[in-house]
Amino acid sequence: MTDNFSKDVLKGLTAKSKHLPSKYFYDDNGSRIFQEIMNMPEYYPTNAEFEILSMQSKQIIEALKFSGPFNIVELGAGDGFKTFKLLEYLVNNKVDFHYIPIDISQEAIDILTQRLKEKLPALKIHPKVGDYFEILKDNRQSDFPSLLLFLGGNIGNYLEDKVKELLELFNKNMKRGDKLLIGFDLKKNPITIQNAYYDKHGITKRFNLNLLVRINRELDADFKIDDFDFYCHYNPMTGDVKSYIVSLRKQTVHLKAINEFIHFDYDELIWTELSKKYALEEINDLAENADFKVENNFLDCKHYFTDSLWTK
Ligand code: AVJ
Repeated sequence: MTDNFSKDVLKGLTAKSKHLPSKYFYDDNGSRIFQEIMNMPEYYPTNAEFEILSMQSKQIIEALKFSGPFNIVELGAGDGFKTFKLLEYLVNNKVDFHYIPIDISQEAIDILTQRLKEKLPALKIHPKVGDYFEILKDNRQSDFPSLLLFLGGNIGNYLEDKVKELLELFNKNMKRGDKLLIGFDLKKNPITIQNAYYDKHGITKRFNLNLLVRINRELDADFKIDDFDFYCHYNPMTGDVKSYIVSLRKQTVHLKAINEFIHFDYDELIWTELSKKYALEEINDLAENADFKVENNFLDCKHYFTDSLWTK
């Protein structure tokens, strides 16, 4: 783990245009800051998806058209508890299903499992820790149809080629007739989007700068956090929100654990994240190109977000 981290950090910081992978935001500290982001009034995706899953669970389940028992496999379940409303609906209506949450974080899975056992004692839950695709492969052997969940708009972090690759990998590990419910943040008034990422309390700034704190700790580096700032920008034409760390001085940082020196120019950027926003037509194209059929889009009342239901 640390090995990949040091490799990826070195690769990103020695590239011509510096960048760092957004997946490294989520150490224990970063996961906590992300919880704070999800609680900000400006960060609309949390409420939008919560509304969809609490108001439209019945419609979502009916649209599956599964006639018997089935599995719900959640990729990147986290401890976020976002699926609770859907699970609660199913348990209350005595639907026969098994819930298989998957996450790379043992801690997140433990918290999630404990909370669900308390709140929904009748739920049949089989938590798994590890790589999505290893576990998805097992699911192909199952006699029951599956609903895959990829919620929260995590797909927005992937570049175009990676999105294709990921969707094809999902497809390859599903059976004919299996369903995928996948969350996309939609294009909308640019000001709404800008406010969600460039928040005035600087929580998203702290989320980004935590990457440098993490490098200091794990690679024994000497980033002076105050010498860096945060910037992000939404391009309404492409739908891209891009986030950056900005070097406020010409400076050199020593990564002692791997004995490397990184030079920064005055105002030099490190690109940290893409959070892409989609139009419904783009979502259709993505589905079709990966051999899925779009069954339904479940939108919140403001049309900020969709949980899109696809069939293989
Ligand atoms: C967890 C990837 C959906 O891109 O909106 C929130 C992460 N970054 N604020 C997103 C994030 C800055 C979030 N996702």
